Amino acid sequence: MATIMILLNLLTILLLFFFLRKRKDAAANKLPPCPRGLPLLGNLHQLGSFPHRSLNSLSKQYGPLILLRLGIVAPTVVISSAELAEQVMKTQDLIFASRPPSSMANHLLYNTKDIAFSPYNDYWRMMKKICIVHLLSSRRVQSYKRVRQEEIDLLIEEIRTASAAAEAVNLSKRLGVLTNDIICRVALGRKYSGETRFREMLDEFQRLLGSFPMADFVPWLGWVDRVIGLEGRARRTSRELDQFLERVLEEHLNRKKSSNAIGCSKECVDLVDVLLSVKDEHDTKDANIALDKEHIKALILEIFAAGTDTTFTTLIWAMAELVNHPTLMQKVQREIRETLGSKQFIEEEDVDKLTYLKATIKETLRLHAPIALLLPRLTTEDTQLQGYDIHAGTRIIINAWGIARDPNYWVRPEEFWPERFINSSVDFRGQHFQLIPFGAGRRACPGIGFSIIVIECTLANLLRNFDWEVPEESKDDILDMSEIAGIAIQKKSPLILMPKLHFA
Ligand code: HEM
Repeated sequence: MATIMILLNLLTILLLFFFLRKRKDAAANKLPPCPRGLPLLGNLHQLGSFPHRSLNSLSKQYGPLILLRLGIVAPTVVISSAELAEQVMKTQDLIFASRPPSSMANHLLYNTKDIAFSPYNDYWRMMKKICIVHLLSSRRVQSYKRVRQEEIDLLIEEIRTASAAAEAVNLSKRLGVLTNDIICRVALGRKYSGETRFREMLDEFQRLLGSFPMADFVPWLGWVDRVIGLEGRARRTSRELDQFLERVLEEHLNRKKSSNAIGCSKECVDLVDVLLSVKDEHDTKDANIALDKEHIKALILEIFAAGTDTTFTTLIWAMAELVNHPTLMQKVQREIRETLGSKQFIEEEDVDKLTYLKATIKETLRLHAPIALLLPRLTTEDTQLQGYDIHAGTRIIINAWGIARDPNYWVRPEEFWPERFINSSVDFRGQHFQLIPFGAGRRACPGIGFSIIVIECTLANLLRNFDWEVPEESKDDILDMSEIAGIAIQKKSPLILMPKLHFA
């Protein structure tokens, strides 16, 4: 009984403390509009299963700048207009360039030794530079052309066989394997799709990174993560992935010793080789920040986390939208088939001639930004947005998904209509803040070139070689476009289609 009384008293004091602090904050500062929340949880319960949708609805009610309290950690500001996104990612980019702590990234990415979850500091600057200059430069991306073409060719051959046997193809599964195989070959030097456990580990890794651990919002309720098994899963996955990456590094180091991979053959250079040679170079420079095996492992995992699901999800949404809009599908196919004649394998150079295909991909990224809320940022100084005070240490969420459907910038915003991009200069590379699926500014995605070429070339080949239909048994249905949340927002039901080989 006495314990219960003590707990009740403690709870009352806590509630009083939060209530008084809120009133004091509001009186001393001009804070953005804040929807009413619950004690302790704040506005957490208002996020729902699809935070991009819930936050978009809240912005319609409260405006494009909202203050939320997610649990008891730092206040969170949600941005839902292109003008404000430009303020955050361009005009005041430096102040908004850090990231909030993430317990999952700590578990899974060697205490955020990666880039995406690292706070803004010298370490992040060094790693991002390595990424842009050595791993994802256009020359490096170009050097993996053969890998991409071989894997896309293999996919087309498999679909040809299915078509000859009048079998449906599970594109969700097959496109997942395609992107994973490309990234494995580019990053690790060979495919691992035959190793079921590897694929399972990566799936679990993505699920965990997309989860909402209690420790990040109400730290003293962090034990809940242990009780529901989240923390245990994270530890297990991190241990298993580490063992796997150790094995990969060992193989590369042995190969390097015996053949000096970088010097002797450019063909066999993968991203692990590149990172090992960057490390050697770095070690000889007596640099301030040491590079060790953990940094390399974190970067390689990052490339899987950031590159796989985002890329194949975009391909799936594009195909699903086209199946639901058969006249648009025919229009893209006509463009490819008329422009490139009888050429059966569309090469990367050919894609530049395909304006409507490119418009279709932009429209897909507009309606289905895979990382709908970008990655959260953290302010490092006090500042103001639209006359409202934003304190240092505030989390910033940018609703790229909501901004891409804002009727102030888009005609018929909910409609899939690639024509809007014909004769329009609006692009997704971070200059036009109404379309920011890759973010913008210092924290922008460095993998745009890497992913777009895979998306363009795969889609062009799928549409050049086949006509696509919904299988007979589900003919009446328009494809279900429901989403499932994760690190990338994916189509909930698998995309299963009948391919019909297109001759000529
Ligand atoms: C369709 C594909 C992709 C989409 C939509 C996408 C989207 C994003 C977004 C929204 C961010 C956060 C930007 C911000 O905070 O402003 C990001 C960051 C990042 N992405 Fe991508 N990405 C894609 C593919 C890739 C690929 C293929 C790679 C690597 C091979 C990659 C590597 C990264 C990295 C390292 C970061 C962290 C940047 C930083 O924090 O400084 N991404 N990406």
